[in-house]
Amino acid sequence: MTAPTLRRYLTHNSFDPDLVFLLEDIASASRLIAGLVRRGAFEGNLGAAGEINVQGEAQKTLDIMANDVFERECANSPRLAALVSEEVEEVTWLKEPQKGDYLLYFDPLDGSSNLDVNLSVGSIFSVMQVQADGDRNVLHNGRNQICAGYAIYGPSTMFVVTKGDEVAGFSSDPDTGEFSLTHPQMTVPAETSEYAINTSRARYWYAPVSRYVDEAVAGKEGPRGRSFNMRWTASMVADVHRILTRGGVFLYPADSNNQKTGGKLRLMYEANPMAMVIEAAGGAASTGKGAIMDVAPTAPHQRVPVILGSRDEVAVLDAYHADGA
Ligand code: AHG
Ligand code: MN
Ligand code: MN
Ligand code: MN
Repeated sequence: MTAPTLRRYLTHNSFDPDLVFLLEDIASASRLIAGLVRRGAFEGNLGAAGEINVQGEAQKTLDIMANDVFERECANSPRLAALVSEEVEEVTWLKEPQKGDYLLYFDPLDGSSNLDVNLSVGSIFSVMQVQADGDRNVLHNGRNQICAGYAIYGPSTMFVVTKGDEVAGFSSDPDTGEFSLTHPQMTVPAETSEYAINTSRARYWYAPVSRYVDEAVAGKEGPRGRSFNMRWTASMVADVHRILTRGGVFLYPADSNNQKTGGKLRLMYEANPMAMVIEAAGGAASTGKGAIMDVAPTAPHQRVPVILGSRDEVAVLDAYHADGA
């Protein structure tokens, strides 16, 4: 039997029909963005756009193009009320919000610092719902996500989605672009000996993170009694995808150089959706002081410390944070 298409999977797994339309729009946006990334060097689009976004980052031309593709592909979804994008400061309202309408949060291009070096990049998305007619609040905590996922633009283009019960991975046929279910029920093993962190920030780390990494580096001879491996791609999508494939723990913690913001990654369109995916796959996602999805948001672009992946390692990091060392 051939693998089910994305549409077949969504309709057979009781996704609401309006949500199926929206997810198919997001999948179309991903297909188009994969093409833009692939053609980037021909079109001269891999470099900086010369603009600074709301986070103070230099936007790449493709960050803006990917944002435009999301807006264009999704704007006609009948139940979609608003868009919250990494690249757009204000919330974009598409209609007068009615109870149950969708709110789409997205990172149009994640890992864009990797574009010119031809490494994997991706898009991340999360869907929540308007709570009451006329309610323009977009700041709901991650437990209110009704689905979330990401696309990865690597050697193959994949689309990964969850509504909280299981995580399904689809690969795009290079000839037709169609997504078929190639990775059903993706899971994160509870145990791992692989971690991911940008060690160039070691001098800023707080004690619990330094302790964790020191003990991992000490290997068999250290208190953990086993060897650890390290991988860091600077593309959250690629790091999370690796963890969903073979386990691991990913950290972008709070440190003394991002004290004010409490991390680098953005809660609404990076941390929350990846936390939902990882939890649905049997892993855990924490700030070090509690579950990411329980954080009460205060601003659409707020940042949050992120520790996610294999359950047992996240538990070790939570315990070190509880100890304060
Ligand atoms: P974006 O490209 O959407 O701004 O996100 C970049 C993020 C994330 O993908 C990655 O984990 C992290 O930034 C890498 O940060 P460093 O450059 O500090 O390693
Ligand atoms: Mn960015
Ligand atoms: Mn990102
Ligand atoms: Mn981005």
